[in-house]
Amino acid sequence: MEMKMKILVINGPNLNLLGTREPSIYGSETLQDIKEMVDTYADENGIEIAHFQSCVEGEVVNAVCCANDEVDGIVINPAAFTHSSIALRDAIAACGLPVVEVHISNTHKREGFRHTSLTAPVCIGQIMGFGSYGYILGVQALVNVWQRK
Ligand code: DQA
Repeated sequence: MEMKMKILVINGPNLNLLGTREPSIYGSETLQDIKEMVDTYADENGIEIAHFQSCVEGEVVNAVCCANDEVDGIVINPAAFTHSSIALRDAIAACGLPVVEVHISNTHKREGFRHTSLTAPVCIGQIMGFGSYGYILGVQALVNVWQRK
């Protein structure tokens, strides 16, 4: 039987508010819409997906820390924790999994405090500015890494 790649998609704080949250920046899709888009892509491509969202830093850190035995890679939008969380950076560095950082908006076009990512240097790469499609790009990037193993 063919082994399916398993990917954990993690969304950080306030991404549960997508749809109504600053739609001029983040668009009108809800997090549920994004999850369904990712799940449809995954079904069509033989990938297993698990989703996790929290506004609590420790819960996001725990989700990264605990993922190693469960999945083959992580797509994470750390949201504001990108710019603030050394704990999340350390968890990503420690988890032993390939991690792709995704942002819906292009943070480099925005306020200066969003230009620094504490987490990107410990990810395999970062995707930003492509709206919700960035999550699909993140999944594709992980599949490519997995296939080359
Ligand atoms: C974000 C960008 C972050 O700067 C911001 O704090 C978010 C969302 C994005 O997806 O564009 O919450 O990660």
